[in-house]
Amino acid sequence: MPKYKLEIEHSVDRAQVAKELERLAKLIAHHDYQYFTLANPEISDEQYDALRRQNQELEAHFPDLRRLDSPSHRIGSPVSSQFDKVKHRKSLLSLDNVFNEKEFTDFGKKFRRFLKMPEDVVIPMLAEPKIDGLSASLHYQDGQFVLGATRGDGQEGENITANLRTVRDLPLGLFGDNVPKNLEVRGEVYMKIADFEALNMQRRQKEEQAFANPRNAAAGSLRQLDSTITAARPIHFFAYYAQSLEGNVAETQEELLQKLQQWGFVVNPYHQLCQTHDEMMQYYQNMQETRETLDYEIDGLVFKVNDLRLQERLGVVGRAPRHSIAFKFAAEQAETVVEDIILQVGRTGVITPVAVLQPVIVGGVTVSRATLHNEEEIRRKDIRIKDSVIVHRAGDVIPQVVRVLTSKRSNDSQVYHFTEKCPCCSSLLHQTPGQIAKRCLNGFGCEDQAIQRLIHFVSRDALNIDGLGEKHIARFYALSLITTPVDIFTLEERSKTHQEPLETWEGWGKQSAQNLWDAIHKVRTLPLDKLIFALGIPQIGQTTAKLLAKHFVVFERFLETILKAHQNNSDAHKELMHIEGIGHGMARDIVDFFQQKHNLQMVEGLLKHIAVLPCEVADHLLLSGKTVVFTGSLEHISRSEAKAQAEKLGAKVGSAVSAQTTFVVAGKDAGQKLKAAKDLGVEIIDESAWHEMVSTAS
Ligand code: IVH
Repeated sequence: MPKYKLEIEHSVDRAQVAKELERLAKLIAHHDYQYFTLANPEISDEQYDALRRQNQELEAHFPDLRRLDSPSHRIGSPVSSQFDKVKHRKSLLSLDNVFNEKEFTDFGKKFRRFLKMPEDVVIPMLAEPKIDGLSASLHYQDGQFVLGATRGDGQEGENITANLRTVRDLPLGLFGDNVPKNLEVRGEVYMKIADFEALNMQRRQKEEQAFANPRNAAAGSLRQLDSTITAARPIHFFAYYAQSLEGNVAETQEELLQKLQQWGFVVNPYHQLCQTHDEMMQYYQNMQETRETLDYEIDGLVFKVNDLRLQERLGVVGRAPRHSIAFKFAAEQAETVVEDIILQVGRTGVITPVAVLQPVIVGGVTVSRATLHNEEEIRRKDIRIKDSVIVHRAGDVIPQVVRVLTSKRSNDSQVYHFTEKCPCCSSLLHQTPGQIAKRCLNGFGCEDQAIQRLIHFVSRDALNIDGLGEKHIARFYALSLITTPVDIFTLEERSKTHQEPLETWEGWGKQSAQNLWDAIHKVRTLPLDKLIFALGIPQIGQTTAKLLAKHFVVFERFLETILKAHQNNSDAHKELMHIEGIGHGMARDIVDFFQQKHNLQMVEGLLKHIAVLPCEVADHLLLSGKTVVFTGSLEHISRSEAKAQAEKLGAKVGSAVSAQTTFVVAGKDAGQKLKAAKDLGVEIIDESAWHEMVSTAS
């Protein structure tokens, strides 16, 4: 009996402690909010410290009762050797940029056209500053912060929960009783300019390398394996987006921001709802002035369609939504002198002339190189060595030479003559008729190209091999240990029998070598689109690689078709050209790539070491496996929106009617294709039947 009584006493005790810990977490969160977010403390520092101490002592006695939203998480803790990966439920998108009023107006026209709305219809936009930091995704379950991740490649980021918990203006527990059960919040982590400068001062004193800008400082602080270091860094968070598994969080972007604020997030105060184009331009003007007074960096503005249902309709193209745009601030310019012109060999063999400049500060950053694009551009702008020039820089964009100050031209200025040979491997340069760029076709036989292709192959968006950075690649290449991607997969075997195995090298050890073998092993199985992208085919970025993967599903089909597509009027060539999003130029580059023996050999070599996963085709959607063709003019939606709707439902959208077509949607004045459908006995439906199909499916 006494034992039983003791247990009861103990559980009462624990329940009370749990309650007290909850009270303290909420109370401290309230005072954090007052202090950090509103800058309006209600209690003294001593009173605040006493609450923190009380919490700490209780947790020390009852460690298992420590809450997810406990204020003690704010101080961080050292964690394991690397961050875990987190797959985003919905991709973290990026934004397309515009740089002037005309481009901004075109953006407005384009999305109205997609919606089949008149050019002058008023569509309210929510304008916000574009914070120059890095985006993060935060998950809340039952109002508690449970998981935080970096953007990564947009599909998959890194789990940095412990680090984010230390960010003082990020709530660990949400306020109010209208918080969705499962909530994901996205926003920007950033560092204030003054904090960045103070941090750099400290670092210089300790002879540590200074950060280049506040954005890098915030990124560096967030990617610490030891979150006590993050805790000591002054980083902040602005929330700008939320979504929930339980349905719509709000009707408009404006309302969404209000909700975020009510739940305890800091929302940038400068957002503004704009109705007309003039209002938007006025906001741009105002913010350009306000920018100078802000204590954090913004690199432009973001304009978002305010109505979230319209946003949903507009959808995504590539990696950017159609409903939002980044309107960047005008580029900054400066005058300097061209000291030399050199040639660089790019990853795909394209030769780019680069101006070596007398270093000059443009928009806070020292610029000593600018791209001259190609021979044609040098001639057109008449850029000569020793010329005084105006250079400009817009955000992350590579600096450019705008124009030559011819009035300052001296007698010793020298006209530049483009060479006929690769500056790296001396092979004769090639120029495809009709193209401006000159190319070295020596592939992996050209050192500059090989190194860059290898770097691309292992980079984050391609194979993403952790621990194989640019410096490592250059070193392995210099020692002829890795000269093509195939070598990456045989390196471990070769290293074992080598007289100096990797773990004995300077800068390497048993653990780091093992980590590299593990990382390489992990990518021996990889999705088709990653492989296509990783090959570094000219013009084939991630989006196109995905399109190709989706179309061909398995690598063998892809390769077989591309090899046959060499014949211009072959069925294979037609098939390639019919893929939505693949134009003539791209098709030619893909075909040419595999016509080069060294590329084909490399791919065949790779396939001995890796397994390529077929592209996952969504087979559970209403139109999965079906092919739809649209013809005639649609009354209520644009052709682009119709196409996007069909693809969302899993269909392939065909451009011509064939026996493979599942059905044709015929709008007004349909002609040839309608006739073809009738001849072939393909099912035909009208626009209203299409809308009905879409609305029943969603
Ligand atoms: S909305 C749908 N709003 O800009 C795209 N992004 O270039 C979601 N950013 O990766 C972005 N301030 O890191 C949005 N007020 C703001 C922003 C913002 C900064 C960043 C964000 C994004 C990048 C896109």
